[in-house]
Amino acid sequence: MTAHTPRMDNIDMAGKVCVVTGAASGMGRIAARELAVMGATLILCDREVEEGAQARDDIIALSGNAKVDFVPCDMGDLDHVRRFAGHILSTYNRVDVLINNAGLTDPEYKLTPQGQEQHFAIMHLGHYLLIHLLKERLMESAPARIIQISSDAHKTGPGLDFDDLASKTVWKGRRYAHGAAFKAYHRAKLAMVLATYHLAEQFKDTGVTINAVSPGYFIATNIYRHMRGVMKLGTQIFRPFFMDPERSAQTYVFLASSPDVEGITGKYWEYCKEKDTSPLSHDPDLRKKLIAETHRLLGLPV
Ligand SMILES: NC(=O)c1ccc[n+]([C@@H]2O[C@H](COP(=O)([O-])OP(=O)(O)OC[C@H]3O[C@@H](n4cnc5c(N)ncnc54)[C@H](OP(=O)(O)O)[C@@H]3O)[C@@H](O)[C@H]2O)c1
Repeated sequence: MTAHTPRMDNIDMAGKVCVVTGAASGMGRIAARELAVMGATLILCDREVEEGAQARDDIIALSGNAKVDFVPCDMGDLDHVRRFAGHILSTYNRVDVLINNAGLTDPEYKLTPQGQEQHFAIMHLGHYLLIHLLKERLMESAPARIIQISSDAHKTGPGLDFDDLASKTVWKGRRYAHGAAFKAYHRAKLAMVLATYHLAEQFKDTGVTINAVSPGYFIATNIYRHMRGVMKLGTQIFRPFFMDPERSAQTYVFLASSPDVEGITGKYWEYCKEKDTSPLSHDPDLRKKLIAETHRLLGLPV
């Protein structure tokens, strides 16, 4: 998988500790496998407990690297995120790479135990809290890298609604709605990009970099498994035409390991190339509002 990616061959990640969320499946799992092959110590989490344990065992068998830990964690439950961070901090004395990858599109309207809509909670709030809890360890381990798996879906929607972050008006009382899920997905991915720009400034001169990623479009992973009815059928019929997740995961590995991106921060990447984000993601007022609201919801100092 590394053949045509800039400067990723022969990179030695031995001694580097890498955290990957949502690593039971898809691109997180592939990136974890590649980093294990490069010698890294891996800490994986996922809410899919059996699949996560299987991913750990498969990665160990394939890479011959036994330093792969799996921790069950629902990134949408802030208590789980705190426990996961506590495990990392008490077991590992460094964190060199944090890949915030866990994500989903689910037409069902679901609130987390803390009362937030699941897309926003899992992809933005959970990952933001994880960064906050690990930030000292990341700075002590510098140079360290944070990678936020967003999506170009952050460009295709109306933006954030601070009067309705739980997206109640989006689902309009329905239990299942694919259109609503895409809107919630758009909002969560936009929040991740805005948070990336904010945190790049916060981590300035600390040796910790943070970049966001668009893995591409219609990638053949398990992300479609929560879809229903015609939408599910459509993804099954068109799956042979979907993109290869091995190729998409290259950008994760590139940003986690390549000397080409040493010190680069606050950028957005797709297929190992920098690209721009939406006009909304550059709106300073929107960013300020999101960060204030995020800190309020997470009980963090502003
Ligand atoms: N596939 C695409 O076309 C595409 C395009 C752009 C961006 N992305 C992004 O790429 C990332 C990886 O997705 P993928 O395509 O590789 O999908 P995937 O195969 O479904 O892998 C994502 C993993 O994250 C897990 N996850 C979901 N919610 C979680 C939670 N609350 N806590 C912990 N783990 C959780 C999923 O479990 P469940 O199965 O239980 O949900 C799954 O194991 C996501 O952030 C996604 O939004 C994907």
